[in-house]
Amino acid sequence: MKKRVLTGDRPTGPLHLGHYVGTIINRVKLQKEYETFIIIADVQALTTNFEHPELLKNDVFQVAVDNLACGVDPNISSIFIQSMIPEIAELTVYYSMLVSVNLLSHNPTIKTEAKQYNFEKSMPYGFLGYPVSQAADITFCKANLVPVGEDQLPHIELTRKIVRKFNQLYGEVLVEPEPLLSHMPRLPGLDGGAKMSKSLGNCIYLGDSKEVVEKKIKRAVTDPKRIHPTDLGHPEVCTVFTYHKAFNQNDYLEIEHSCREGKIGCVACKEKLISVINQFLEPIRERRKYYEERKKEVMEILYEGTKKAKKIAEETLEEVRAAIKIDYFK
Ligand code: TRP
Repeated sequence: MKKRVLTGDRPTGPLHLGHYVGTIINRVKLQKEYETFIIIADVQALTTNFEHPELLKNDVFQVAVDNLACGVDPNISSIFIQSMIPEIAELTVYYSMLVSVNLLSHNPTIKTEAKQYNFEKSMPYGFLGYPVSQAADITFCKANLVPVGEDQLPHIELTRKIVRKFNQLYGEVLVEPEPLLSHMPRLPGLDGGAKMSKSLGNCIYLGDSKEVVEKKIKRAVTDPKRIHPTDLGHPEVCTVFTYHKAFNQNDYLEIEHSCREGKIGCVACKEKLISVINQFLEPIRERRKYYEERKKEVMEILYEGTKKAKKIAEETLEEVRAAIKIDYFK
């Protein structure tokens, strides 16, 4: 039997270049070798967006389109909607017994996000607990491998802890997953911030037009010590250089060298990047357009993917309930 990959996204808007280099690139690469499940985590999106449920339908659709446009092949991978699999919610409740509030509140990703969403003074219980729900996302299908960005590592670690504890207490039912990082596990934002993030408004989206990409890159932060094009540069602190490293495998070493020697200025370096990113995004834009115009086809793909994931979830939950002795009428 093929091993399984599970990963996915929180639908709080369209996906960006950080998602691509952090995880989507690996989904596409691994889908032939692994049985692949892509979760659109709409319930997780509600943990921060609960005041705006009206956004969900379109955001779910956009995330599906982004995955398809990047090359996730619906004939071999299953893309599915989290909320349509109530077994995930059920599993979350069982797991919640195995995790302390203290452990959750020390999760560094939760801490960073709590700041962004102003949850520091009053943290919704569901938000604090979403990593537990994420453990259910990953384990209902007994995933072996989880391609993620660096920010997700604490959640995978928690998942592994829960699996070990569950198996130790109730018997070997669950599979302990491994995280998989890409060559660029964290992409900084255009503003030089630690991470490209929808909520920080420092992203290039996979659906951005040529003109928008150009405008955004022209405004991107570079090495602050460089005033003149001939000043010696420090690519290691430059966001634009990091993007070259992520998307311009062929030329980034030469650009690094020229920057250090003061032989290429920031304007020219940005021009190169604009052309690289636009070339990279062009086929994705075209496929995005194709799927955006075929909403019914996309919904059909989600329906089929969800059906397949649901069947597996039902099977796993039978085992889980038996293990924790709540299979009364069997
Ligand atoms: N937390 C992930 C994000 O914000 C989305 C996600 C939900 C996920 N469930 C998952 C990722 C399971 C990997 C595995 O992008």
